[in-house]
Amino acid sequence: MATSARNDVRDGSRTTQYRFPPGFRTNLIWFALRKLRPANPILLFQHLADQYGDIAHYKIGWHHILFLNHPDYIREVIVVQNDKFIKERTVQRTKMLLGEGMITSEGAQHRSQRQVAQAAFHRQRIPAYAGMMVEEAVRLRDRWRSSEQRDIAADMMHLTINVVAQTLFATDLRDEVDELTSAVNRIMGLYNFIIMLPGAELLVHVRPPGLAALVRARKRIDAVVYRMIAAHRQRGSQGGSLLDLMLAASPDQSPASEKSLRDQVITIFLAGYETVANALSWTWYLLSQNPECERRFHLEIDRELEGRLPAYEDVPRLRYVEMVLAESMRLYPPAWAMGRYALSDFQLGDFFLPAKTTVLMSQFVTHRDARFFPDPLRFDPERFTPEARSRRTKLTYFPFGAGARQCIGESFAWMEGVLLLATLAQRWKLKLVPGHRVEPEPLITLRPKYGMRMQLELREPLAQA
Ligand code: HEM
Repeated sequence: MATSARNDVRDGSRTTQYRFPPGFRTNLIWFALRKLRPANPILLFQHLADQYGDIAHYKIGWHHILFLNHPDYIREVIVVQNDKFIKERTVQRTKMLLGEGMITSEGAQHRSQRQVAQAAFHRQRIPAYAGMMVEEAVRLRDRWRSSEQRDIAADMMHLTINVVAQTLFATDLRDEVDELTSAVNRIMGLYNFIIMLPGAELLVHVRPPGLAALVRARKRIDAVVYRMIAAHRQRGSQGGSLLDLMLAASPDQSPASEKSLRDQVITIFLAGYETVANALSWTWYLLSQNPECERRFHLEIDRELEGRLPAYEDVPRLRYVEMVLAESMRLYPPAWAMGRYALSDFQLGDFFLPAKTTVLMSQFVTHRDARFFPDPLRFDPERFTPEARSRRTKLTYFPFGAGARQCIGESFAWMEGVLLLATLAQRWKLKLVPGHRVEPEPLITLRPKYGMRMQLELREPLAQA
């Protein structure tokens, strides 16, 4: 039953009257265990949106939690009143892996890290990355064999790791890719379990026996990152890769400064490959299920490129490819939810809420809301023509977040997605292996739970046929 609640809360000498939105009054953990088996946070968010609409409130113990499912509320929190919030607790807990990098840091530290990295994502630098992206995709497309069945999700992870390593860190990680992805997979596998544990932040230091695998995986990732930093130091600055910029901003080599460098590198690294890889895997899947869209996608690639490899200048011409990618990130947003934690009391519409409230929003749920995207489960890239985009309210679609913490890699990711899709699809058509189970798994990113087994078919250019 939806109820709107007034609560008088004694706060030191004064009494504050909060006004909470309608919400959930039963014991949430009991509900989740009984009704939402297997436990899946997306089902819980979807249930709250279905039951309570734009804004829902529930409590776990003394802790107030809000779930927002309207672009105006979402905008209010992440853009308009952003300075009243920090990242919420589960993000804080990713510090176990990411340390104090740009995703987890706050305030002045965040601003200075963002300023250093900004130069590497500057519009002027992006074209230089295009050639390297295409080169990596060509390497993969030359390795693929006709009729072969492969886990395309694993291929996309390897491809995007190499892209980030080459473009932003001017490093060749081909020999270390397997080690890195298996360590990250290990941590992702443990992630949902870890973030539920009380005092999880301390686990890395106390090393409980059951989580030794986590500590080992983290060490393996650290070893690769420290090797990369040492190699760059030895070589001296070589002209403005992101790592060069970070090294220049952190000249002393004290352990604290080395640790901070490690945190910044690993943050960009993980944020930069996992998300794009997932976006691409879901795109191949959706294309394979929608032959008409797939045909139009191939037609545009063949017509615009006429058999040559794509380049930076082609990106604006590959409009349908971009629309397909956008629609894929609507249905399967790689960052499927975001959260904030209130530093002070705040007002949201008619509601007045206390400091320490956690605010959750889910791209997955809002992007599938029929009010904003009619017939929401249908894959339809036409939703992303410039006209259709301009008709929609801001933040009905927010795969990259918004405001001061908006994804720093957004233009990089759009260009990378379009170039990698076009280069691979120029030669190959991907078909889902019959019977392969496809299910999204909401970890830190939205992965295909069972990978993405697809069969490769060589294809003839359509426009010339
Ligand atoms: C499809 C690809 C991507 C998606 C969907 C995505 C999504 C997001 C989202 C939603 C946020 C904001 C989180 C929040 O406000 O709580 C974010 C932040 C961030 N992303 Fe991305 N991202 C992608 C690609 C990239 C790439 C390629 C890079 C770097 C190479 C990157 C680096 C970052 C960083 C460093 C932040 C933190 C920014 C800050 O807090 O100032 N991302 N991303």
